Amino acid sequence: MKEQLAEVLDSYKGERGAVIPILQKVQEKLGYLPEEAVKEVARFLRTSESVIYGIATFYAQFRFTRPGEHQLKVCLGTACHVRGGELIMDTAQRELGVEPGGTTSDYKFSLERVACFGCCALAPVAVIDKTVHSRMSPSKVKQLLDSYH
Ligand code: FES
Repeated sequence: MKEQLAEVLDSYKGERGAVIPILQKVQEKLGYLPEEAVKEVARFLRTSESVIYGIATFYAQFRFTRPGEHQLKVCLGTACHVRGGELIMDTAQRELGVEPGGTTSDYKFSLERVACFGCCALAPVAVIDKTVHSRMSPSKVKQLLDSYH
């Protein structure tokens, strides 16, 4: 991790105001912003960790926990909610044993809730990695997760 971090920070030498691009690049390399990375970025930008956390937590794009190998996102927007999105989420939570925002202990899956994927006609929708799964049902959630084991 140290080398990847140094590589990112080296490419931003002389651009000390570039907090967001630096954090984006670090997250791109590491998959998330671990405490150690935030500490290094703060040192590089000659500011405090709390300033970096203050900025990073403002943006939903940054995550501070290690993501799973696969990311399951369940839509809970209006169209999906009306068509049983909560049931899809409940099933995913039960199957994976994690809450939304959580990652399984084997780091295989992360679970997230999403407000709308923009494909409401396919509701209820779940996306795993970049693949959209339409008209989900609890049994489809189980099949889907089983197919990754
Ligand atoms: S509400 Fe789920 S895709 Fe739009």
